[in-house]
Amino acid sequence: MERTFLMIKPDGVQRGLIGEIVSRFERKGLKLVAAKFMVVSRELAETHYAEHQGKPFYEPLLNFITAGPVFAMVWQGDNVIALTRAMIGKTDAVDASPGTIRSDFAVHTNLNLIHGSDSPESAAREIANFFSPEQLVEYEHTV
Ligand code: CMP
Repeated sequence: MERTFLMIKPDGVQRGLIGEIVSRFERKGLKLVAAKFMVVSRELAETHYAEHQGKPFYEPLLNFITAGPVFAMVWQGDNVIALTRAMIGKTDAVDASPGTIRSDFAVHTNLNLIHGSDSPESAAREIANFFSPEQLVEYEHTV
């Protein structure tokens, strides 16, 4: 069973798309194990986006991700990393396939609504950056 870190970015929150996006993952049959509505600090943003340091879009990206609340989540399921990335779509909305979140709702690369981990290693790192172990809720479906 795999876990991934998904984060609805400030543009997704401000456009009122939290429910729409969460609903897609729920209907897919994936399991929500943690969620947090929060403002990302500059320090956490630098940690989360460390791999992009030095790139031309790095500073605007930090300003954007810290500019308003995000909805950070951990989801669980078989192949959840690949499945959620497929549902999110390519980084650039122009390349995102129809039916994906970015194709359906995004126009620009820098306003692409949601982040999803791209590997088991980055999922583990990103989950640990945003959540403490006790915030990950273990439960079985009982109804
Ligand atoms: P995300 O998947 O969160 O990871 C890095 C983010 O940088 C990416 O989504 C985009 O929101 C943002 N970004 C802005 N410009 C670019 C770019 N030219 N190439 C890749 N990512 C970019």
